Amino acid sequence: MSKKRALKLGAIIHGVGGSSSGWRHPDIPADASVNIGFYKQQALKAEEGKFDFLFIADGLYITEKSIPHFLNRFEPITILSALGAVTSNIGLVGTLSTSYSEPFTVARQFSSIDHISGGRAGWNVVTSPLEGSALNFGGKPHPEHSERYRIAEEYLEVAKGLWDSWEDDAFVRDKESGVFFDPEKLHRLNHQGEFFSVQGPLNIARSKQGQPVVFQAGSSESGRNLAAKTADAVFTGPESIEDAKEFYRDVKRRIADNGRNPEHTLIFPGIGPIIGRTQEEAEEKYRQIADLVTIEKALDHLGRFFEHHDFSQYELDAPFPDLGDFGSNSFRSTTDRIKRRAKEQGLTLREVALQAATPRNAFIGTPEFVADKVQEWFEEEAADGFIIASATPRGLDDFVELVVPILQERGLYRTEYEADTLRGNLGIPVPENRYTAARKQAGVTVN
Ligand SMILES: Cc1cc2nc3c(=O)[nH]c(=O)nc-3n(C[C@H](O)[C@H](O)[C@H](O)COP(=O)(O)O)c2cc1C
Repeated sequence: MSKKRALKLGAIIHGVGGSSSGWRHPDIPADASVNIGFYKQQALKAEEGKFDFLFIADGLYITEKSIPHFLNRFEPITILSALGAVTSNIGLVGTLSTSYSEPFTVARQFSSIDHISGGRAGWNVVTSPLEGSALNFGGKPHPEHSERYRIAEEYLEVAKGLWDSWEDDAFVRDKESGVFFDPEKLHRLNHQGEFFSVQGPLNIARSKQGQPVVFQAGSSESGRNLAAKTADAVFTGPESIEDAKEFYRDVKRRIADNGRNPEHTLIFPGIGPIIGRTQEEAEEKYRQIADLVTIEKALDHLGRFFEHHDFSQYELDAPFPDLGDFGSNSFRSTTDRIKRRAKEQGLTLREVALQAATPRNAFIGTPEFVADKVQEWFEEEAADGFIIASATPRGLDDFVELVVPILQERGLYRTEYEADTLRGNLGIPVPENRYTAARKQAGVTVN
């Protein structure tokens, strides 16, 4: 590494949480997923902890069996716009699907957030796992897994092209002469591809950070390749440090193979720390959440990864059923892992469902213990940073108040923001406008 690596942190704000029963915890507002006060409090807490960014996940299809947070939650662009107005340094990253939207609209939306927030926007690119999503968008069949990734690749090419529609100094705004913009610095994309036909230009300028930061979530072969070609940051969900190191090495290698600098794409495992004054207290907090989950709810939770498959039809204490290819067109990397682990460890359906619905991770313990784990994963190149998903109602508060000071004391983590843009804080470069770069390369002087 050419310069000292610095740990980065993001915080998922996930309303009542990612479990079926967390909303019943006495300390969580039961309407947290649509409670602007709750989102604002969490955003300000993350900013107090000098976090690089907030992260909003999303989905496009629900059934009666979906977990409470999925049933009733804010749309990411809308909530990020609101949070942009009450924060000043923290990045604002939102999930938006390339399978069910148009690049012109989405490039424009993220660019607008980038302007509203002074260069703090990020887009988590997902391809939408659930087939049912198609039922909400005109009825065309859900694209197959590899096609979704081909669409995503072309989509990002278009979005990035549109974000360069205007060179940085295109808007002259000279009241005296009446010149509003320099036509030489306005560019039409004229994209004609397999999936999209977009002329451009985009009707908004480049922002202070050039282009919004592109995150990618999806860990299959196709997901890793998309990240390697286009992403500035990758969100992943490893189960162990070994898993995370394999992912880290593999994705960084693919980035280098694509002729890109691996130091400029950061890898973020999502973790759910549970912090107690003692190890026992932390374990007790985990149990408090886990005990709220019934086996019926756990089966529904597991079922969602497999297109809301009904697992109640199988014997609970028999070996996990053989599902063949089932799940490979939805959350492929996740369903592959669930099936592989069940087989390797000889797990029953009950065990698999409970693991899915009440996951344990390595980050349960005292503040020192959690800080040690964070340091270990970071230094051993299992991560460039972490996305903190609160597993308990005070999960983010505990992390900011108890773990961040230890990381700061150890010199691993900032005590002040370095910049007021997301790229600036993440330490990744502002991409130069392609037309400005081409003109420079052709030797033409740029004013
Ligand atoms: C850590 C992680 C987070 C994800 N977050 C979302 C999300 O918020 N919304 C969504 O629609 N899909 C999300 N996905 C799903 C992926 O974008 C993708 O559609 C699905 O996982 C299948 O791709 P894969 O097999 O490459 O993982 C996430 C996937 C991973 C691994």
